[in-house]
Amino acid sequence: MSHSTPPSAPAGAPWRGAIAYGCDYNPEQWPREVWELDADLMVEAGVTMVAVNIFGWAHINPADGVWDFEGLDAVLDLLHSRGIAVNLGTGTASTPPWLTTAHPEILPVMEDGTRRFPGGRQAWCPSSPEYRARSLDLVARVADRYGDHPAVALWHVSNELGCHNALCYCDHSAAAFREWLRERYATIDAVNDAWGTSFWSQRYGAFDEILPPLATVSSRNPSQVLDFHRFSSDALLAQYRAEQDVLRKKSSVPVTTNFMVTAHIRNLDYAQWAPHMDVIANDHYLDHRLADSEAEMHFSADLTRGLAGGEPWLLMETAVGAVNWQPLNSTRAPGELRRHVFSHVARGADGIHFFQWRASLQGSEKFHSAMLPHAGTQSRAWEEARDLGSELAAVGELAGTRTEAHAAIIFDWPSWWAVDGESVPSSHVRYLEQVHAAHAAMSAAGVTVDVVPATADLSRYSLVIAPAWHVVSDAAAGALDEYVQGGGHALVTFFSGVVDTHDRVRAGGYPGAFRDLLGVVVDEFAPLPQGDTVTLESGAQATLWSERVTLRGAMAQDSFVDGPMAGGAALTRHSYGAGTAWYCATALGPAAYADLARQLADQAQIPRIGGANARVTAVRRSGENGSYVVIANSSSQPACVDVRGTNLLTGQPWQPDTALASGDVAVVREEAA
Ligand code: GAL
Repeated sequence: MSHSTPPSAPAGAPWRGAIAYGCDYNPEQWPREVWELDADLMVEAGVTMVAVNIFGWAHINPADGVWDFEGLDAVLDLLHSRGIAVNLGTGTASTPPWLTTAHPEILPVMEDGTRRFPGGRQAWCPSSPEYRARSLDLVARVADRYGDHPAVALWHVSNELGCHNALCYCDHSAAAFREWLRERYATIDAVNDAWGTSFWSQRYGAFDEILPPLATVSSRNPSQVLDFHRFSSDALLAQYRAEQDVLRKKSSVPVTTNFMVTAHIRNLDYAQWAPHMDVIANDHYLDHRLADSEAEMHFSADLTRGLAGGEPWLLMETAVGAVNWQPLNSTRAPGELRRHVFSHVARGADGIHFFQWRASLQGSEKFHSAMLPHAGTQSRAWEEARDLGSELAAVGELAGTRTEAHAAIIFDWPSWWAVDGESVPSSHVRYLEQVHAAHAAMSAAGVTVDVVPATADLSRYSLVIAPAWHVVSDAAAGALDEYVQGGGHALVTFFSGVVDTHDRVRAGGYPGAFRDLLGVVVDEFAPLPQGDTVTLESGAQATLWSERVTLRGAMAQDSFVDGPMAGGAALTRHSYGAGTAWYCATALGPAAYADLARQLADQAQIPRIGGANARVTAVRRSGENGSYVVIANSSSQPACVDVRGTNLLTGQPWQPDTALASGDVAVVREEAA
């Protein structure tokens, strides 16, 4: 990566040489007599690391100026006595009521100018000076007290920063936004130029006239909205870094926070955050609102690894069964948890942690699953969680190895914000769906991909896919150009390269930044009504989009048979330097996309594991210890995968004709070649 790669397992980390196993633990919700029992059961379940003090502020600081660490002292000592490492929360995630009563200006303001009330969680403005001062005081006290406690193995800054409060429109945010703009642009003229304020009489005479993009009667300035997204992500990153600075002064323990690489949280540009983490950690919950929640889980893990520069990372939260925050909270089918946990391990997770240890009896998460559900140890959840502890211990030698990927998909948060923004050619084109479609096609072709930020070093890949990469800097476009000229293979899909980083259209025809690379020029978009399908000459079905493509060096590989662009090119191929650049001017259906992925993988000579596909996943991790293939069979049939070695979960030999039962998992240590 061009940014500094975060180390996977800092010296002394408990997950070095083992897969860390654990959970969030909220002992403040339980009477003391339960704590001892909890610690014993954790040992029984093979728990090695536990996150505490995530929402502890009101407990250790029950009133202004009053501090009480006695409970937390006891919890840390208890866990340490059982050999369980602590992932210690700084406790800043949620403010206590006394603080927002005294300082209501801490509470965030929404797009419509209304202030939110306390009573939930994370009700603070990321740019509030009062919140910043109070939270850093808390961090300093926690770090002073526990900075060298032998149980503390990792600092957990706040919790899911920006889960609820990423976009705040209050006066403090407005002032901080202006300051951010001043630093970025220096002069008001430069802001006017970047935002194109000659349009609709939006020209600013001074920084003081600028507001966050609050709700308007018409559509808003898209460049302003894009910059506000960047600012908001930076504001929370600044909170992270401020907490991290305090911790670093008082402790040598590595620091992280839990990302939310998921389908429904898009406000944090984790490409900017990743370089500041000592280890990358992610929270992932199956989203049953999606058509294929398992595919999204694989995608999330591949993007988390991409953010980690290919290094191992930690799954900081997932659910044993159901969550409580979807309209219908489905549980996991028998065996599904195990398969999903190993899917994360396959994709580079060196730690598996659940939210949470013991199911709450009260509060809005009382129907959220836990390792220890309301029924206690007489439950499937407990048995599965306990068995997983010993299985993860059995594959400890995997820790520290790297997932092998020869292909990459570029993921870009500003493109997500812009493509899904207001005033675009089609509100039916959703950025994430386009990226997921590319990922699904590669999975169907049995290709493991790193999903990487636009700044990643592409030279380690044989194939790079850029789906709907809409907002592109000259430097990033140049890097893709250079990659292909140097012999790489690339596929760029529609609506890519269209605008610069200010959301300003690149004149001269689409796909602007990539015209030369792709050898095409497009003079008009013709998005399709939702549900309409067009047919291509090859018989492929496509949806959502068409456009008029003129060849400028590329060769047409497929064309539209019907629809508004009938007769025009839909898929092109351009020999460029020593490499090849493909362009797809429509949204291919899953079967056609998978065929294209296979063709590209063959052309790029990507090694693939025989038998692997979207439902029978086989992912290789390798390193000093050796080479391993993690196989998970989500299909309804037994499956064979072309590897040889020993299944660490059974101790049995594995041959290419060994059948893995439907729903089962294997971790095969490959025979040395
Ligand atoms: C996460 C959060 C946890 C818990 C969990 C429930 O967003 O970090 O504290 O709320 O979701 O799924």
